[in-house]
Amino acid sequence: MAQQEDVFKKIVSHCKEYGFVFPSSDIYDGLGAVYDYGQNGVELKNNIKQYWWQSMVLLHENIVGIDAAIFMHPTTWKASGHVDAFNDPLIDNRDSKKRYRADVLIEEQIAKYDDKIEKEVEKARKRFGDSFDEAKYRETSERVREAQEKRDALHKRYQQVMNAPGGIDLEGMKQIILDEEIVCPISGTRNWTDVRQFNLMFKTEVGAAAEGASTIYLRPETAQGIFVNYLNVQKTGRMKLPFGIAQIGKAFRNEIVARQFIFRMREFEQMEMQFFVKPGTELQWFSDWKQTRMKWHQNLGFGAENYRFHDHDKLAHYANAATDIEFRMPFGFKEVEGIHSRTNFDLSSHAKYSGKKIEYFDPETNESYTPYVIETSIGVDRMFLSIMCHSYEEQKLDNGEIRTVLHLPAALAPVKLAVFPLTKKDGMPEKAQEIIKDLRFHFNCKYEEKDQIGKRYRRMDAIGCPYCVTVDQQTLEDDTVTLRDRDTMEQKRVKIADLRGIIEDKVSITSLLKNLL
Ligand code: GAP
Repeated sequence: MAQQEDVFKKIVSHCKEYGFVFPSSDIYDGLGAVYDYGQNGVELKNNIKQYWWQSMVLLHENIVGIDAAIFMHPTTWKASGHVDAFNDPLIDNRDSKKRYRADVLIEEQIAKYDDKIEKEVEKARKRFGDSFDEAKYRETSERVREAQEKRDALHKRYQQVMNAPGGIDLEGMKQIILDEEIVCPISGTRNWTDVRQFNLMFKTEVGAAAEGASTIYLRPETAQGIFVNYLNVQKTGRMKLPFGIAQIGKAFRNEIVARQFIFRMREFEQMEMQFFVKPGTELQWFSDWKQTRMKWHQNLGFGAENYRFHDHDKLAHYANAATDIEFRMPFGFKEVEGIHSRTNFDLSSHAKYSGKKIEYFDPETNESYTPYVIETSIGVDRMFLSIMCHSYEEQKLDNGEIRTVLHLPAALAPVKLAVFPLTKKDGMPEKAQEIIKDLRFHFNCKYEEKDQIGKRYRRMDAIGCPYCVTVDQQTLEDDTVTLRDRDTMEQKRVKIADLRGIIEDKVSITSLLKNLL
């Protein structure tokens, strides 16, 4: 575990050192849970977005895109339920003045019991070697049994307070924190305030105060921009059910526990698609979209074993099915995408609050109804993080050196081809520039002449550039170059005229999309 934490720290510093992700307002020491994408980060992020957008809008005739504003009429958020129910339960420690999510404190306590149990089992496994019978040990070990009982009792109590009939039982939560003797990690004390609900939406004001400013919110999800445009798109696009509306855009949440770098941010980006279907068909569509989205993830080649579905036991009152696609991050399996069957809750609620009829006239059955919705919702930044985590490697070479390499899928890499003149003389730089001039229209190229070739290769490995080309003396004689592959480090001599043909297909988003069909 500690080793995994070290790897994660290295990935975070690598992101900064190589222009992928910087803390926001870095010269002022940053702003909590807000980050900027640098020269390489923005390219990778744009490629992720293109992969998603094209897989939705290009590959599906019945999915179209929109780009709604971040600011929306405040009633939107009343209708969606966010004003009343988009809350986290918070608790403060009076000594450290630090604020925590009460549910997270309890979940961490449950995880501590789990850790304890696993450590006991591992110790026994080492002690007994091949003859170790894990199931029997779990049943018979006094220590394991005791920890398991405490864990299960806590879990049960936690479920009860979270699912209390009138909403989360805040007093019950505090009592658990006191009974479990959970301490503040900063002050080490148990001097806790009461637990209270805290709305995650950022508020601001529109209009000058003197004219009667009104409160509006920064959207906490992009989905509502789609729901309020359902009628506009359906009518102007003459869309027939089933059809989808896709959108990529910023969302904002005043997250209290902002942790794990770009995993949980206060300003982040979502890629959401609402798929409108005939009532009664939604569970089949839910199952289809689960498979489609999992295929999209696994298509990146990171290994099926690194993904799993986490089906929700506890559903929001408006949902009739929900699952997360989780990816194995260095800090465990974590949600990257949510897929939800949201019934007709959102459209019906907007119809109620706006007074507009939001329905679909089905020409096949001659009836009007409110469509049901399957939502696929993925965070661009979490996707970015999962790609970085999986691609990062410190590779030990045969000569004992360590090279740091990002095995990014070529189609997502910020730079596709680096072109180096072996030396800065004999017309080699000019020849290298000529190659770039030709190829830059087809994919992202970079020219580098500083330092020895070995160092230049390392810099390109570190940003995940899949191909490097070197112009040398022979190039000037026969128009061939050496082409080096990032992953195998193999080099081969190829004609300049063949470069585009060799590289273009491998680095294009189209190559990824073709595997999805
Ligand atoms: N419209 C549904 C919705 O917003 P969600 O599960 O709250 O559902 C969807 O969010 C996705 O957005 C998550 O799976 C995650 O990838 C991303 N996301 C949510 N909160 C985030 C945050 N604070 N920072 C980064 N990404 C976040």
